[in-house]
Parts: sequence; C-alpha cells; structure tokens
Amino acid sequence: MEKHIQIFLTKISYLSIAVSTLILIFIFCFQPPPQTCINPNSNPNQKSHPLSTCHVSPRPITTVDHKNHRLWSTNTWRKSVSSFTSLFINLQTLTNISNHTHSLIMSAGGGQAVMAMHQIGVVDVTGVEVIDSPPLVSRADPHNLPFFDSVFGLGFSVELDQALFPDRYVSEMERTVSVGGVIVVCVQVCGDDEVNDVLKLFRKSEFLGARNVTVMASKMTMIVVKRI
Ligand SMILES: *[C@@H]1O[C@H](CO)[C@@H](O)[C@H](O)[C@H]1NC(C)=O
Ligand SMILES: *[C@@H]1O[C@H](CO)[C@@H](O)[C@H](O)[C@H]1NC(C)=O
Repeated sequence: MEKHIQIFLTKISYLSIAVSTLILIFIFCFQPPPQTCINPNSNPNQKSHPLSTCHVSPRPITTVDHKNHRLWSTNTWRKSVSSFTSLFINLQTLTNISNHTHSLIMSAGGGQAVMAMHQIGVVDVTGVEVIDSPPLVSRADPHNLPFFDSVFGLGFSVELDQALFPDRYVSEMERTVSVGGVIVVCVQVCGDDEVNDVLKLFRKSEFLGARNVTVMASKMTMIVVKRI
C-alpha cells in the first residue's frame, strides 16, 4: 500500500516538472519581442522615445548631446572651429597630411580642432585633454600619453606654452608620431629667437617651417617639424 502511494507521488512530481518545463518553453518561445526597451542608439531610424522605466541608460547621452548641441551652435565655437579649419588647410600646403593621416590633437580643450579636422575630411582624429569632453576629446595626461610609439602621422598642439613640462610634452609627441610624420605646435606670436628656443625641445625632428597664424582670435606662430 505505501509503495503504491510512493509511486503515485513520484508520478505527480514528474508530471509537475514536465508541466513547468512546458510553461517555461512557452514563455520563451511565444513572448512577443519587447518594444519599449530598444536602445534608440542601436537604430538611427527610430525617432520616438518610449516612455518606460527600462529606458534609463540613454538619458545621460541625450544630456551630453543636448549640451554639445548648444555649445556647438554658439558663435565663439563656430569661429574657433573655422580658425582651425583654415589653419589645417594652410598646413596641407606645407605637409603631406591626408584624409587618412592618423592625427593626434594634444590639449584639445572642448574639441574645436578635432571638429575642424573632421570637417576638412580627416577621418581618424584623437583629441586628448586633462578633462574629457565626449565625444570629441578623451582624457589623457599629455606628459604620459596612453598610446604606443609611432601610431600617429600628425601631432598638433596650440598649448605647448601652457605645458607644465614642455620638454616632456614634446618628447611624448615625438614618441607617438612616427618617423616621416609631422608635428605642429602653435605658440604665442614670436620671432626667430623664440622659434629656435622651441625647436630645441625637439630632439628627433627637423624644422620644416614657421608662419604666423590666427587661432581662436589670438595671433600665434605655427612651427612645423618633421619627425626623423
Ligand atoms: C611629401 O611628399 C613628397 C613626395 O612624396 C616628399 O618629397 C616630401 O618630402 C613630403 N613632405 C613631407 C613633409 O613629408
Ligand atoms: C578628403 O575629404 C574631404 C571631405 O570629405 C573631401 O572633400 C576630399 O575630396 C577628400 N580628399 C581626398 C584627397 O580624398
């Protein structure tokens, strides 16, 4: 008698396991795809913003986008970017930078020079600054760049005269720019003596030229060297 009961109970537990498995399979296979949790960044065509609680992660990005949109539409920003654009076009006559030159912008601030590079068609631009400004500028210490040797074809800075350790700053540019590449620094407008002082910081480069330019409404002297 007890044995019969035991067999009966065993059968019941097998049955319930089978039923729950079937229910789980049903839930997994026949549930409609969730429609409210789609990341809008994954689909550029989706314009609507579903109002649901599972939709929290994109919000900070929207805030950054919004902030950038406001910053990028100011007159000051546009003037800065266009001053860099003319400078880079000017630079193309002095050097061989092309749309495919991997470019490093040191002390990139909010990313004006990075945006200008993109505008003239340079595809691969890395902007670094002590404080990051996504999406144009990442955070890095200019005295200790987080890049391998010789990865860039162009190094650019308008902040060398603000550097804490100019010697170290320049040697990091020379380390990360490959032989044959070009390094461009803009310093406060100056004469030949000062240009020579700046050139002394470059131990692995040869002088290509210097000219006076206007960057972000300041008169500056642009010094161009080639990495050797
Ligand atoms: C640019 O390219 C030309 C021809 O390929 C070469 O003679 C010249 O040295 C290059 N200039 C620089 C700055 O690399
Ligand atoms: C570089 O890119 C710009 C903008 O996309 C384009 O107008 C220009 O023709 C490109 N230059 C070369 C040499 O491909």
